Amino acid sequence: MRSHQCGAVNATHIDQTVELCGWANKRRDHGGVIFIDLRDRHGLVQVVFDPDRAEIFALAEQVRNEFVLKVKGRVRARPEGTVNPDMSTGEVEVLGLELEILNRSETPPFQLDDNDVGEEHRLKYRYVDLRRPIMAERLKLRSKVINQVRNFLDKQDFLEVETPMLTRATPEGARDYLVPSRVHPGHFYALPQSPQLFKQLLMMGGVDRYYQVARCFRDEDLRADRQPEFTQLDIEMSFIEEKDVMGLVEQMVREVFKTQINVALPDAIPHMTFAEAMERYGSDKPDLRNPLEMVEVADLVEDIDFKVFAGPAKDPRGRVVAMRVPGGNQLSRKHIDDYTKYIGRYGAKGLAYIKCNDIAAGAEGLQSPIVKFFSADALQGIIERTGAQDGDLIFFGADKAKVVNDAIGALRIKVGNDLGLLEGDWRALWVIDFPMFEYDEREKRYYAVHHPFTSAAEDVESVRSDPEKALSRAYDLVINGTEVGGGSIRIHNPETQQAMLELLGIDAIEAESKFGFLLTALKYGAPPHGGLALGIDRLLMMMAGADSIRDVMAFPKTQSASCLLTDAPGDVNEQQLKDLHLRLRKPVTE
Ligand code: AMO
Ligand code: AMP
Repeated sequence: MRSHQCGAVNATHIDQTVELCGWANKRRDHGGVIFIDLRDRHGLVQVVFDPDRAEIFALAEQVRNEFVLKVKGRVRARPEGTVNPDMSTGEVEVLGLELEILNRSETPPFQLDDNDVGEEHRLKYRYVDLRRPIMAERLKLRSKVINQVRNFLDKQDFLEVETPMLTRATPEGARDYLVPSRVHPGHFYALPQSPQLFKQLLMMGGVDRYYQVARCFRDEDLRADRQPEFTQLDIEMSFIEEKDVMGLVEQMVREVFKTQINVALPDAIPHMTFAEAMERYGSDKPDLRNPLEMVEVADLVEDIDFKVFAGPAKDPRGRVVAMRVPGGNQLSRKHIDDYTKYIGRYGAKGLAYIKCNDIAAGAEGLQSPIVKFFSADALQGIIERTGAQDGDLIFFGADKAKVVNDAIGALRIKVGNDLGLLEGDWRALWVIDFPMFEYDEREKRYYAVHHPFTSAAEDVESVRSDPEKALSRAYDLVINGTEVGGGSIRIHNPETQQAMLELLGIDAIEAESKFGFLLTALKYGAPPHGGLALGIDRLLMMMAGADSIRDVMAFPKTQSASCLLTDAPGDVNEQQLKDLHLRLRKPVTE
């Protein structure tokens, strides 16, 4: 129907006749001449209709925003003074010779150039929202990135293999989405939380190098970077070690960043142990653009006459940290009160601080509600360890280590942003040496920090003798404070796998019923293997500079997991329930 894309018309086409299709972005009537900005995914071009051609002029008068048009016209240079350097087509315009209204539009639910439209409205009319240039750009970026990683992996001898959506539960730690079986009364499929078990089985099937652009489903609390269904670039390799997986992923991400957004990530992405990340940043996904760091000061305060500090300092599960904020002296009482309230939601009971007015003057020069409790030595130690200077402020956190890490870790991010302290645009790192297990105080049992198929860094016996100290062979890729990917070297020995499941409190019977097929497969010659999954949506969110992964998905769900466009999830009729052998516990009233 068309000879050119609207956004592609330029000075090289002057005097040519072009046929264009698109949406009326805007119509303006100017002294008897009608201008219509015609828009498609590639951009806008200005079409002019003059009254000499009465018939099409009359038609052009009917055009309203978002009408779908077909135009035939002649390209000409814009008159002197009307060239628009902000438009790719800004040097030219198209003199309309023919016009066809392909379809009309009701008044659009919002103006496309209105940047304050509520997200709910945008999601309800997503097809209109997707016409906005920024959304078109994001979809394009998504497509280009996925295309590039496919090409990259294809060149590296990977096979793309699809794995089932209707399957058994895969333990990634979230709740499952279940699908009732009609044929097998009372039985359910689970939608995959990831293709984890299948990709391991593919290694056992000799596939050697697998990848998939895989949809994953997790019923968990949603946030800006979490959707109930999302996309992973899922990778698994045989006969490899950590460095092979990490090296490959690093190279791929570096090439994608360079090609798609012209960002040069460093030649080697630095590694940091989980322990170091927690100690310095209170988080296993630190944003290294943020220069604020916590330093341990427990040894300096364990004997002081201030229980709030001395208690946690002596507690093996406690932590006392100081965090220097350069230039933080300017923070008012109100700021500090607000921060205290902010970290309260992470369980912190207070936020002690020292304002460094004149360090050389000793305690006199330090303004703080707690200085009176410290010895001169302790004060000096804190100043030295934090590297504080006149004009700085030092925050303190004292509590169970988890509370301190969560609270001061969150404060670090907030203060860093509030005071504009972030340095540089892109900082990536690998976090390694994760613990194998996390102890759940309430349930009195261990959980796998990664998943139960992750190999330990030491043998089963040492893991069993001190599970809390055991490290795993897992690794996470973190960019600017977001976990964009994670993976591990897997267990490929059936006895080791069985032992790990036992440590996790999954007995032989439960293991057999849940992952019997994997345990059996391990007995028939499983190669050493490992892999990783990149959260494609998160990666794209960062590359596109979007605030939420919803902005890089065509049809995302809301915070409460509903689709405003289709109104999913919806109700079903009695017959469907009957076919599935289901009865609702409480009849739905509406
Ligand atoms: P993991 O659970 O760490 O590992 O997931 C891998 C990556 O997927 C992204 N991600 C999400 N993105 C959007 N919404 C969500 N709800 C969501 N959950 C996770 C993150 C994360 O880093 N099978 C293992 C991988 C492996 O071991 O190879 C797995 O799924 O960016
Ligand atoms: P208080 O003696 O309770 O008035 O506390 C003195 C100072 O210590 C105040 O600035 C509190 O905000 C702070 N504070 C109280 N509990 C903690 C804690 N667990 N960690 C850090 N600071 C605290």
